[in-house]
Formats: sequence, structure tokens, C-alpha cells
Amino acid sequence: CGIVGYIGKRDSKDILIEGLKKLEYRGYDSAGIAVFTDHGLEIRKSKGRLAVLEDKLRDEPIEGSVGIGHTRWATHGKPSDVNSHPHTDNSHKFSVVHNGIVENYLDLKEELAEKGHRFLSETDTEVISHLIADEYDGDIVKAVQRAVKRMRGAFALGVLTEYESDRLVAVRFASPLIIGIGEGENFIGSDIPAILEHTRNVYILNDGEMAVLRRGSVELMTTDGEIISKEIFHVDWDLVTAEKAGFDHFMLKEIHEQPQAYRDTMMGRISEDGKSVDLKEVEMTDEQIKAISKIHIVACGTAYHAGLVGKTVIESLARIPVETDVASEYRYRSPIITPDTLVIVVSQSGETADTLAALREAKRNDARVLAITNVVGSSIARDADDVITTWAGPEIAVASTKAYSSQLIAFYLLGLYLAQVRGTKTQDEITEVIDAMKQLPEQVERILEQSDIYKQVAEAVSKHSNLFFIGRGLDFAVAQEGSLKLKEISYIHSEAYPAGELKHGTLALIEEGIPVISLVTQEELYEKTLSNIKEVKARGAHVLAIANAGSEAEVGRSVDELFAIPKTLPILTPALSVVPLQLLSYHASLALGHDVDKPRNLAKSVTVE
Ligand code: G6P
Repeated sequence: CGIVGYIGKRDSKDILIEGLKKLEYRGYDSAGIAVFTDHGLEIRKSKGRLAVLEDKLRDEPIEGSVGIGHTRWATHGKPSDVNSHPHTDNSHKFSVVHNGIVENYLDLKEELAEKGHRFLSETDTEVISHLIADEYDGDIVKAVQRAVKRMRGAFALGVLTEYESDRLVAVRFASPLIIGIGEGENFIGSDIPAILEHTRNVYILNDGEMAVLRRGSVELMTTDGEIISKEIFHVDWDLVTAEKAGFDHFMLKEIHEQPQAYRDTMMGRISEDGKSVDLKEVEMTDEQIKAISKIHIVACGTAYHAGLVGKTVIESLARIPVETDVASEYRYRSPIITPDTLVIVVSQSGETADTLAALREAKRNDARVLAITNVVGSSIARDADDVITTWAGPEIAVASTKAYSSQLIAFYLLGLYLAQVRGTKTQDEITEVIDAMKQLPEQVERILEQSDIYKQVAEAVSKHSNLFFIGRGLDFAVAQEGSLKLKEISYIHSEAYPAGELKHGTLALIEEGIPVISLVTQEELYEKTLSNIKEVKARGAHVLAIANAGSEAEVGRSVDELFAIPKTLPILTPALSVVPLQLLSYHASLALGHDVDKPRNLAKSVTVE
């Protein structure tokens, strides 16, 4: 989502709309603005792209020099006029725009409803406006401070109240927010592009910090009310760079967003004591879960590859047999679907025609369908019985990165949840996986810190026109994704092979100098994979290995180059090992001078079968 806010002397409407246009790339299922007018606080909002809001503003204009605006990428509640931001309370005196997720909003909503608050939307944001109104006793800053103390989650807020129309309050808790400093006017934005046209001087808020803006001043403080000072950050990026948060491409930005995507996808789904997974959005009863006799995972492209990992995860945690299918094949092989079959469809966009058709086929056969998708309110999310949303945020680059890895997190959560209900894992085993999952975001950060080493390898790899990815078990699943990533954006032909299967034919293609990227993260299979590595090395291959930290001695001596990833449980390694492969593809594409974000012949979302 995108946030923008203005307090100054000019008419705020155009500034808000222009700011939102610069943020449209972050998601655009609805938009809205709230402005102090001569008649009080007024809100205009609508579902659809910004142009729809602009039409509405032409029919019902509003004017005023203080306002907040929002472009939404649905989280809680489908895209609709009423779920759009800004939200307000029953008195219509308060208005809030919000990015992020308030985990405990249902508890707060219930409590406020008992006090007589009436809610119109399904959103967590509306709850925030009511909560602030409820806490208000004459000082908006204190009311906001009290309200955020009661909120759990990751969020950024812009808040207005008609009672104090010379102030705009902004808060940041783990969701980005910046303050733009002008002359006689000040701004807020979730992202630099939103305000870049007006000022290059900004304060970047940290978690737990807030700002109180007036026309001529900005006061910075913590949410505990302690006044703080900050250095002004001078932005020297142009608009195009700013949209990518300083990265050269959306793909690189999205690769770097993975730690946050992991945190967001796990947030609110792991109990506070770290002992269990709670998937509130899965409405299947325990009886229904226990009755599942088999699972079909159906998807396309990268999402299909996430499904390949999902199969092993579910089978090993919950001991339910899983088949995986490419969606365009599923319908036509007359799959055996029974009412106790759970069909899991995986789709970043939620709009892929092949996947949607497979979902409908499954429903026609009375199967229960669970969707793992990144887009709330998408066709697939609407048609499925249960939905697990990946909170990766909008993905712009055609080559999927953070959506894939968040799908893995969703599979881990689902696998654990099924295991809990079916009693296939002990409490200790479940706790062990959860503990290790919590380390993943920081472990990905460590891989990203070393991203330069993959640049050098990529440059060497880009000189070849053929290469192989090999691995066994989960490593083979990730190898397939690594190979697809490379093909999509570098146009280099590669093949992913189960390491042990090479000798049954493909070994004939190995010749002097050919790069073989091998994934060696599954401890029990080390020995076997290493023998396969020796087979290709003996035929002249140049072997690059992605292996666990600590295995350098054992694996290192059999390969030409080793790239270590932090140590985690064998079942979780895909969430780490895919990152070097993404970086490798990215840099290979760059080295070859291709359009990384928009590769030839491909589309982000394919809505034809
Ligand atoms: C397209 C994209 C792929 C993507 C696939 C499935 O082919 O180019 O990157 O993996 O669709 O997309 P979905 O939105 O269903 O995950």
C-alpha cells in the first residue's frame, strides 16, 4: 500500500493524488483521500485504479490544505469502496490511513463494539480510527500514543482529527514511513517517490517513532512521548531510482525484501509462546483435517516449484500423501479427486487462468480447495474455500522471488498446522521447526550481505550457453526454481536434474568447462550427492556448490567453488538456498545486458489458458 499526507497552504487534493500516482506501483486495488474542508473532514474513496477516484473527485470535489491519501493493496477485507482508506470513526471526526497489519484487530474490534462502536468495513484500519477516537480526550498526539500501545503488528499510520485541524500525526512500527520537510508545508509518505516532487529533505522514521506535523514545524518523538532529534536525509535519487528504493531493478529490491516478507508471512500465525501455529484463516474443522486422505498441489511456473517443496514439507510433517501437478496438465489427466482430497492451489497473482481452471475442476469434483496467494480478493482467493495469504507485498518484476519464498513459508506453516491437528509430530519437534523458522529472516539478511560474490560467479556463468543445476530431495526442488530463474531473465539454457539421475543419460552432455551448480544442503544425502558431483567433475565440469556453513571441509574438497548458506534444519533450507540462485540469475541477466524486470516473451500474470 501507499501513504501520502500534506499539511501546508496549497490545496492538498492535487498533491495527494499526484503522490498516490507515484505509489501506484505498490498496489492499486482502491484509493482514497481525506481532507479538512470548510465543512469539516471529508473523505472520497473508491475501488479500482486512481483514475476512478479522480473521476469521483470531479463529480464531488473537495478542497482544503490538510489531507491524507492512500492507495491500497488489500490485506484485511477484499477490495471495495467501503474497505478503501482513509477510514473514519462513527463521529466522522477522525481519519486514518494505514499500511501494514494490526494482528490483534479482532480483539480490539470486539472490545470497541461492546462500547457501542459500529463498524462498516472488514478492515483492521477502521478499528484503528475507532480506537483513536475512543482514546481521545483533547490531545490527538496522546490519543495516538495510547492507541498504538494497544496495537500489535507492523504498521505505519497517518492520522487527522477535525478537533485539531492544524496537526497531522504520523507513526511508524515496522512499516516504512518518511516525513518530507518543506517551507511552510510538510509531507508524509510511505515511500520517497510520493513526495519527491516537493522536497528532497526528509526524516526517515524508525520503528516506535512518530512525528507531529504542523505547517511550519515537524516535531519528532518516540511513541512513549520522548522528544528526539534526527538528521535530515537529503535524497539525491531521481524518481525512477526512488521507486525502486534505491535499487537498480525491482527484482533486486524484491530479493532484498525477502526477510521482511518472511516476517510478515509468519506474523500472527505463530503462538506467542512459539509452540504452535495458528492459521485462523483456514476454516477446515479438525475433523475435516483428520479426514484428508490425500493432497494435490497445483500451480504454474515458480508457484509450482514452491509446490514441489510443499509436497516434501507436508509429507514429512503431516504424513499425508501429496501429488504435485502443473495446472495446465491437471485437468486433462483426469485426476482422481474425491471429497476427502484437499487441493492446494498456489498463485502469486491469484489470477493465472490455468490455475483457476484447475481450482474449478477440483471444486466440480467436490474437493476442498485451499489457496496460497499473494493477492487478497483475487479470483483464486475468492473461489477457494480456504486462503493462506502470503504477505510478500506487491511483486513487480516478472521473475518471481519474494512471492516464491513466502509461499515456502506458507507451506511450512501449513505443514506444521496439519501436523498439530493430526498429531504426527511431537511438541518438541514442532517447537524445533518454529524456532528455526524464526531465524530465517536474519539468515537471509546474512546471505544478502554477501551478494557481491554472486556477481562474480554470474559473470563467469553468463559466458556459457548451457549449464546444469543438480541436487537431491529438496535440493532438487530448489534446483528447478534456480534453473527457471536463470532461463527467464538471462535466456541461458539450463536444466535441473536430480543428482542421481544424471548418469542415466544426461551425463552425455557434460563436457569440459560446463558449469554445474549443485545444491548440497541435505545432510543425509551428502555422500550420495558428492559421488554424483565427482561423476561430473571427472568429465570436466566446473562445479559450484551451494552448501551449509560448516560443511566446507566435507563438501568443499569435491567442488571447485563453494558458497555457504547459514545452517538451518534440512526441511527449511529451500528458504535460504534459493536466495543465492536468485542473485546469480539477476547478475547473469545484467551481465548480458537484458531487461531484468521485463524479460522477453513473458508476462507477470498469464490470464489465458
Ligand atoms: C507467469 C509468470 C511466472 C509465474 C507464473 C504463475 O508465467 O511469468 O513468473 O510463476 O505465471 O503465476 P502466479 O501468479 O499464478 O503465481
